Amino acid sequence: MRSVAMQTALEMEEAKEHQDIVEIIESYNRNPEQLIPMLQDIQAKHRYLPADKLRALSKLLGVPLSQIYSVATFYRAFSLEPKGEHIIQVCMGTACHVRGAPRILDQLSRTLGVEPGKTSKDMKFTLETVNCLGSCALGPLVVIDGHYYGKQTPKSIEKIAQQYKGEKKAKKAAKKKGKD
Ligand code: FES
Repeated sequence: MRSVAMQTALEMEEAKEHQDIVEIIESYNRNPEQLIPMLQDIQAKHRYLPADKLRALSKLLGVPLSQIYSVATFYRAFSLEPKGEHIIQVCMGTACHVRGAPRILDQLSRTLGVEPGKTSKDMKFTLETVNCLGSCALGPLVVIDGHYYGKQTPKSIEKIAQQYKGEKKAKKAAKKKGKD
């Protein structure tokens, strides 16, 4: 069994390595009942819930890791997998589906080179499908980083996707220019 001194030393080591988690815990007054908002903050920072951060949260908050994982896997909003810089959600609910959502999804998949449900290799895009987003009149609906793009056609969504891809090229060019 670990001595109290050893346990404290381990916790201090953990706290030093995961200062961001300490800050999150403290912003909720170390209250384990605030586990969900704490997880939301971790996800907002990393775009997913990294395993080492969850381990640190468990140790520093004194909540079993199994309990943290059961919350993290219960809510669909949490992800244990790294996500892309841009999260693209294609609504596949009935109203959007009948208005052509599958063709929108195909177009996005082709333009961005990423399969539905996956993240591109360069970690730029995550392409997700979701059920009714509650704005059926806008269907077919695509949400990119929280921005709604309604009444899409394969052509219009391709244009939008190209703009997001272009943003990457523009950034690269600016970086290169900075080096010259
Ligand atoms: S079915 Fe797409 S928003 Fe309702």
